[in-house]
Amino acid sequence: MRDASPDREGAEALPARLLGWYDRHARALPWRVPPEESRAGVRPDPYRIWLSEVMLQQTTVAAVKDYFHRFTTRWPTVAALAAAEDGEVMGEWAGLGYYARARNLLKCARAVVADHGGAFPDTREGLLTLPGIGPYTASAIASIAFGRAETVVDGNVERVMARLHDIHTPLPAAKPELTAAAAALTPAERPGDYAQAVMDLGATICTPRNPACGICPWREPCVARAAGTAADLPRKTPKKAQPVRRGIAFVTRRADGAWLLERRPDRGLLGGMLGWPGSDWTEGAPVAIPPVAADWVVLEAEARHTFTHFHLLLEIRIATVPQNTPAQVGEFLDMAAFRPSDLPTVMRKVFDLARPAFETVM
Ligand code: ADE
Repeated sequence: MRDASPDREGAEALPARLLGWYDRHARALPWRVPPEESRAGVRPDPYRIWLSEVMLQQTTVAAVKDYFHRFTTRWPTVAALAAAEDGEVMGEWAGLGYYARARNLLKCARAVVADHGGAFPDTREGLLTLPGIGPYTASAIASIAFGRAETVVDGNVERVMARLHDIHTPLPAAKPELTAAAAALTPAERPGDYAQAVMDLGATICTPRNPACGICPWREPCVARAAGTAADLPRKTPKKAQPVRRGIAFVTRRADGAWLLERRPDRGLLGGMLGWPGSDWTEGAPVAIPPVAADWVVLEAEARHTFTHFHLLLEIRIATVPQNTPAQVGEFLDMAAFRPSDLPTVMRKVFDLARPAFETVM
């Protein structure tokens, strides 16, 4: 830390200044209640805060909004979600990625109902006992939904702290230092509004590129702004290049138009999601074991998808099979039961490439 006290105006003044900005500029988000000053006693709903914070992990606000709307329309309470069928929840989550979040979401909703009488615990420690709730989510719910003075640190907050204090240690090594800096500023008053204010500042002004320092409520205390380093922070240790894996996906259509799909095992990548039967995904040549005997046509186009730890190239093989073909793997879903939107993105890409080929090739 170049300068541990960015406080030409005193450390207590920093949260107050940011809260004043938040009172005027808070983003209106579907799961939010307005800043405490103007919400006339309305309390945030812990269910909506929890759901939004789980969805927002690794995902942008823009991508989350529609999903949040669909989930809360279909399942307005934690009890309603707890009573949902696994496949329905996985289908509604399809496209958001990081599917372990959806599996844990259901586990958590069921634990809240079974073990906590349908009410979320109101402390960070209590929240941490629930499935899928880690330090970030526990702090976010405790502060935003329950007014606890917990420190919330996401990528936005890390960036804001790195700049405010001109911290040049690269991420991820800088995490403890950035968390300590964030904790030192967390106020006892309005901690939930404060947590959301730092995140909004990071999302709207203290942005990764071209930060709008000129209109920042913290422009005066910001050490990196004074040093001219804001746009270069936070530094990051370069990631290793990710390997390429290959696989084969089999898209099978029965004469009546039903598609052969398979629900993937609960554990592992895309766990619990619907997909096309196929090979394992490997760095060497994949071994193809077709799900049914058929005349397979190999498509020229491959599906490409990037996961956290590897890039995937999927060869696509398609076939049309007779009406009486038994499914040895997975099951045939007729046209009424199959919603392409239930597929995770990589499987949706396969479908979008395969579907026109059934019209032209088969
Ligand atoms: N990103 C994740 N959670 C957020 C929140 N509560 N407000 C703003 N941005 C966020």
